[in-house]
Amino acid sequence: MSTHIEQLTYKENRLTFGSVHLDELATRFGTPLYIYNFDIVKKRIESLKNGIGSRSNLICFALKSNSNPKLLQFLHNLGIGADVVSGGELMLARKAGIPPSRIVFSGVAKSNEEIALGISEDILSFNVETPGEVKRISQAAKSKGIQAKISLRINPNINAKTHPKIATGLYDTKFGLDPNEVSLQAKLISQDPNLILSGISCHIGSQILDLNPLKEAAVFMRDFARTLRASGHQLTHIDVGGGLGVAYIPEDTKKAVDLESYGQMIRDIFADDPATIVFEPGRSIVAESGILLTRVIEVKKNLRKQFVLIDVGMNDLIRPSIYDAYHHIYTVWKKSSPSVEESVDIVGPVCETGDYIALDRSLTIPKEGEYLAICHAGAYGYSMSSNYNTRPRPAEIAINSGEVSLIRKRELIKDLID
Ligand code: LLP
Repeated sequence: MSTHIEQLTYKENRLTFGSVHLDELATRFGTPLYIYNFDIVKKRIESLKNGIGSRSNLICFALKSNSNPKLLQFLHNLGIGADVVSGGELMLARKAGIPPSRIVFSGVAKSNEEIALGISEDILSFNVETPGEVKRISQAAKSKGIQAKISLRINPNINAKTHPKIATGLYDTKFGLDPNEVSLQAKLISQDPNLILSGISCHIGSQILDLNPLKEAAVFMRDFARTLRASGHQLTHIDVGGGLGVAYIPEDTKKAVDLESYGQMIRDIFADDPATIVFEPGRSIVAESGILLTRVIEVKKNLRKQFVLIDVGMNDLIRPSIYDAYHHIYTVWKKSSPSVEESVDIVGPVCETGDYIALDRSLTIPKEGEYLAICHAGAYGYSMSSNYNTRPRPAEIAINSGEVSLIRKRELIKDLID
């Protein structure tokens, strides 16, 4: 029996991912356990590439969504670049082999040290968000004797219709430059011998399920590029950011836009533009490839509610706690006889009421020691995890053409207290 997740199916009542039995992985590697199916990652990349076709493009994977070094190497082998937002991410991308010519450095409040690092690596572009950053990059480039490439991030004031904490394209957020400021900075950059204006960029938010705002932003960028060109600026690339959402909720499966259609839309919008189109996808490439496997510690009842206590805490997966995010959960064992579902809160061991993975979820009550699979954990899962409550982080494993490998060891208490 299939589920709403690709390659996640019940075979003889046991849940398998890419034909691998999840209960066997739990026994072999322990829980909590992050599992990534690299075949799905590859399919997502191919889907976007198919959509964009032969048009000149560069996919820069947003490392913030998942920065596992082995995953980055895998992506690099597929020719993928990196969208980084810190000196740490820049070094991770370089260590995975991604060449500087495929790295864009996004984000507000870059420190001088981070700018110096980007300059010494001579990256494809700094996606710049303030006039001050333009000046600091110019100084750093001058002292290094190179010309730094700048892409100006525009805030187009477009509502991405997503969770307010991850909407970035409106004027009341800290991101990007007002269009007028972009025109002014473009002029200043063209007069600065230490800088090259290589492009413009935009990212209006994340987990966007409605294609219209993404279309509106892309059209805005295309028109803005035309205006800049008319003023004599040569733009070699236009960066349309990331943001495409995924179907966390099974009912959204039909609503969610696939990467191929998105790629086609971008190809059509920029059909007459000579620039290379840069994409910065994160979630749409890796979210569905990831399962977080957890073990039931106990089931507890009080006078009002029933709680399934699991070994995954908000330190392992914080999205439900901070965005009220929905992650679908499947039992790893399916009861063979028809069983009744009950409403439960699925909660972790961290000492906060906000430590939950699901509230009021209908589930066949599992037994102590049974496993649950938390879906869509490949993006903003491990990368947002912490050691809160002095809890070691989970192990990460990859399934690649049916082969299972450990790609990051589980942390030990020893690692945290020494
Ligand atoms: N480019 C920039 C400049 C970004 O800020 C982001 C995400 C991306 C690309 C990748 O966006 P994606 O394709 O993954 O939507 N922690 C939140 C998501 C924060 C997204 C931040 N920026 C979550 O768990 O939903």
